[in-house]
Amino acid sequence: MQTYILGIESSCDDTSAAIINNDVILSNVTASQEVHRNFGGVVPELASRAHQQNMIPVIETAIQRANIDKKQLSAIAFTRGPGLLGSLLVGSSFAKAFALGLEIPIIEVDHLQAHILCHFIRNTEHTNPVPSFPFLCLTVSGGHTQIVLITDYFNMEIIGQTIDDAAGEAFDKSAKIMGLPYPGGPMVDKLAQGGNPLRFSFSKPNIPGLDFSFSGLKTSILYFLRDELKKDSGFIENNLNDLCASIQKAIIDILMAKISSAVIELKRRFPGMKQPDVAIAGGVSANSGLRKALEDARDKHGWNIFIPPLPYSTDNAAMIAITGYFKYLKGDFASQEAAPYTRAPHPTADFGGKD
Ligand code: KG4
Ligand code: ZN
Repeated sequence: MQTYILGIESSCDDTSAAIINNDVILSNVTASQEVHRNFGGVVPELASRAHQQNMIPVIETAIQRANIDKKQLSAIAFTRGPGLLGSLLVGSSFAKAFALGLEIPIIEVDHLQAHILCHFIRNTEHTNPVPSFPFLCLTVSGGHTQIVLITDYFNMEIIGQTIDDAAGEAFDKSAKIMGLPYPGGPMVDKLAQGGNPLRFSFSKPNIPGLDFSFSGLKTSILYFLRDELKKDSGFIENNLNDLCASIQKAIIDILMAKISSAVIELKRRFPGMKQPDVAIAGGVSANSGLRKALEDARDKHGWNIFIPPLPYSTDNAAMIAITGYFKYLKGDFASQEAAPYTRAPHPTADFGGKD
């Protein structure tokens, strides 16, 4: 059976559309919104307006690049949540109207599940390795930081999460303190590459179990810079690369310590497991330092690691389309009444069109 699914993602400030043929992506088109840059963060009102402007051109381009006719579409998958209400409304309303016009079903997708399931997107030859169940995924984005134990496509258990800021926020807020533009994560990553990660050290959180905390780090950076700026007003400019490298290292150390503990937990639950499958997902999984840290853990501990290609790390519709494909196989369709949700019902956000 050949299925063609259009995926639509509009939960935050990226308007994205993708076409998937079974589990092989044919196109993935994303329009990022520059409009927020001057405001130091995403402005929800402006995000909804920009989605409204970008939606049709992005979808038309995705269909063109996939080289299919819209009449070939089997279903339309859209992000139902979590995210910004106005942004989600644009994508979900478009998906519903388009599907009604084409007389095909709609499929609702949970954004966080989708970040994880991006690891099941196949290349045309089906040669790229995909994780096997059970596996762990560290989902690190602008709004979430979770360690998830996945035992099936839609059977996910959050075994650890942040009690305050997300890892992406830790990057973005630290960048803001240093006067860098929004979003700070990619900028810190870039500047860190020319810096010494061991130059400065910041206080480490002491949170039991598999949960995370990043607010102490932010305060520690704030106080450190405040004191140094008193002595030298050019401290940030003069040490920017080393500061970025040291902050990035502090965030990665927190993440890697917990993922190592989660591997111990995985082995405890599944005795006999020799080489655990460990994945990362979400915007922060684009970070070169985190990617390298995971590769080092693979070499040191023998983990099988799964790092998403960059276009599937940050928000994208390819991940919505692959999740839509797995739901399509189950006949798990949504109703026209499905309203967006702004906070996560994840882990097993599987409504099956029942609400
Ligand atoms: O998953 P995502 O695109 O959107 C959400 O669902 O939140 O994640 C966005 C977050 C932002 O905080 C951004 O600064 C961070 O991912 N990010 C990065 C990098 N690229 C994006 N953080 C560190 N290094 C990067 N290269
Ligand atoms: Zn995301």
